[in-house]
Amino acid sequence: MMTRADFEKLDAQDPLAGLRQQFILEDGLIYLDGNSLGVLPRATAPRVAQVVQQEWGQGLIRSWNSAGWISLSQRVGNKIAQLIGARSGEVVAVDSTSINLFKVLAAALGIAQARDPARTVVLSEAGNFPTDLYVAQGLSALTQQRCVLKQVESGEILGALSQDTAVLMLTHVNYKTGAMWDMSAITAAAQARGVLVIWDLAHSAGAVEVDLHQANADFAVGCGYKYLNGGPGAPAFVWMHPRHAAHARQPLSGWLGHVSPFAFSPDYSPAHGITQFVCGTPPVISLAALECGVDTVLAAGSVGGMRAVRAKSTALTRAFIACITPFCERLGLTLISPRQDDARGSQVCYAHANAYAVMQALIERRVIGDFRAPDVLRFGFTPLYTRFADVFDAAQGLQEVLATKVYAQERFTRRQAVT
Ligand SMILES: Cc1ncc(COP(=O)(O)O)c(C=O)c1O
Repeated sequence: MMTRADFEKLDAQDPLAGLRQQFILEDGLIYLDGNSLGVLPRATAPRVAQVVQQEWGQGLIRSWNSAGWISLSQRVGNKIAQLIGARSGEVVAVDSTSINLFKVLAAALGIAQARDPARTVVLSEAGNFPTDLYVAQGLSALTQQRCVLKQVESGEILGALSQDTAVLMLTHVNYKTGAMWDMSAITAAAQARGVLVIWDLAHSAGAVEVDLHQANADFAVGCGYKYLNGGPGAPAFVWMHPRHAAHARQPLSGWLGHVSPFAFSPDYSPAHGITQFVCGTPPVISLAALECGVDTVLAAGSVGGMRAVRAKSTALTRAFIACITPFCERLGLTLISPRQDDARGSQVCYAHANAYAVMQALIERRVIGDFRAPDVLRFGFTPLYTRFADVFDAAQGLQEVLATKVYAQERFTRRQAVT
């Protein structure tokens, strides 16, 4: 049985340990929710103040040119590209993940149906994050069934690919279980059946290694406010394989996705490549904050990059499972994340009959994770700022909350709007 001293030793040997300095984290707080909202980087507040006071306050409209605001979506996109195996010029940081999904789903369907109009099905996992499914349902209604969402269990995905499947839309790391798809294998299997593949990287970017080109994916989207530490409601990102650039058309044809916005032509003509996926004016202040967050992940480049980040992520999640295992069954927990390291993202989830109240009691003890309905305790491990000693302390805290049944107190059972 490992002791806290053993975990402290792992921290002392951790090549990524210094990266924690980049963040503002209260002493004594164990934050295991970076998969929902990343921690505030030290650089963000001064940078946002500079954007507000100097670039906006003094530069005013001139800053679109002089401070580079007009190309900020592309600049931040190029930085994100380095974390997901994309190339410079292939990613833009814009809109929300949901909106970007709408755009890529419509673009992918257009490409698929130009090749074969009989392909109308968007195939996805029933356990996918709801917004992905809702967006497909919305597009289905809008296109009068030229797009039909088919949801199956994860184990049935490959068998469900058929002659009428246009697009396979999957989230690389499942939000509720942490299960991670083999991106290359699934993409190849779908493409062999003539199906385009969209990956949602919300729980991957900045946490696990992703190589979109090596996987030969078609489209990808992802979140800025989770492992990229971009702040609440940070812009999301979107990627398209360059082979689709000449044919793809996304339906939110706004002026900044035009090939020449300042020509003010009455007719839409899409910009080349990924810039077509920009719609309206970018949220400059939010993008500046997102850039600071992305920089915290790029800083890992000096200590092994995403390979080292992933190695630590695996070690943290494996250590947490090992700490919980001795009391798991006895205290009513069921592991719902994969035990196999390469099938698990950067989170560990357990089912418990009183999961909501247990998490509230744990949060009161200053161990922050979250709850996902109906019965899931979710713990996210951000390798940039989570220490091995935190893993040990969080497991101890969970054991105490469960063993003492403190969670049964009425105040822990009151549901708040955000869980
Ligand atoms: C897998 C996945 N996709 C999409 C979203 C939602 O993204 P947005 O709020 O940027 O639309 C989330 C949010 O948690 C998510 O987990």
